[in-house]
Amino acid sequence: MKKIEQYEAVSKLYSRLMADVNYESWAEYLLAIYEDFECTGNRFLELAGGNCILAGELVKSGYDVITSDLSLPMLGSKECVGIRRVCCNMTKLPFSSKFDFIFSAFDSVNYLLAESDLRGLFNEVGRVLSADGIFTFDVSLENNSLNNLEHLNREDKFEDLKYKQTSVYLEDERIHVNEFEISIGEEIFKEVHKQKIYPFETYFEIVEDSPLYVSECFDAFTFEDGSPESSRVQFVLKRKV
Ligand SMILES: C[S@@+](CC[C@H](N)C(=O)[O-])C[C@H]1O[C@@H](n2cnc3c(N)ncnc32)[C@H](O)[C@@H]1O
Repeated sequence: MKKIEQYEAVSKLYSRLMADVNYESWAEYLLAIYEDFECTGNRFLELAGGNCILAGELVKSGYDVITSDLSLPMLGSKECVGIRRVCCNMTKLPFSSKFDFIFSAFDSVNYLLAESDLRGLFNEVGRVLSADGIFTFDVSLENNSLNNLEHLNREDKFEDLKYKQTSVYLEDERIHVNEFEISIGEEIFKEVHKQKIYPFETYFEIVEDSPLYVSECFDAFTFEDGSPESSRVQFVLKRKV
């Protein structure tokens, strides 16, 4: 199968798997953070925005958003049409101007497999965040991996595509692996996603050494304090100076 056909299949599968995610309320939660933290500017930058659905919700509400992702096929999804987008690695941002509200959603930061990548992310965001700007992102913690394995091992077919997802959490390495075997007709290929499930404390330690500080860490989708027992937490970072 040609690479371009694989890309299209992956993007189609991703849209299918995310169909149940309520991005409208996710956008409302992020906007509530934006308003609560009294961020004055209105230039938004999304990191690892995938197929642009969240960015689309914010653009619909009138916000000035640039989204970005490492994957060109994701940014080529039909949902991205009309959204300003840049293909880049969140650890090496190609921007020199400043943004007031930088965000990343849905475990994307867990795709950074090495602590040096997390350092790169916080340093780069520190470089392009405006003086009273906010960087907010969620991360998945170990309880999420341990509690969701059953429903992540699944198979289904739709349109011309069949997939089988195998999900394993490697506790010793703290790596969550999702493997997708995708078939279209007789052709089969694999797509493997690895996420690092860092201990809760690691984020605080690494942020400490960056131009940013942790202003809040919520249990995700709430404004209650997050903890090592949370499934997912939402960090809100600001600039030290
Ligand atoms: C779970 S998806 C989430 C996408 C989107 N935020 C959403 O909520 O639908 C993770 C995304 O992270 C992107 N990604 C992984 N590593 C990245 C990196 N180093 N820099 C930028 N994007 C990255 C992947 O391409 C993928 O689109």
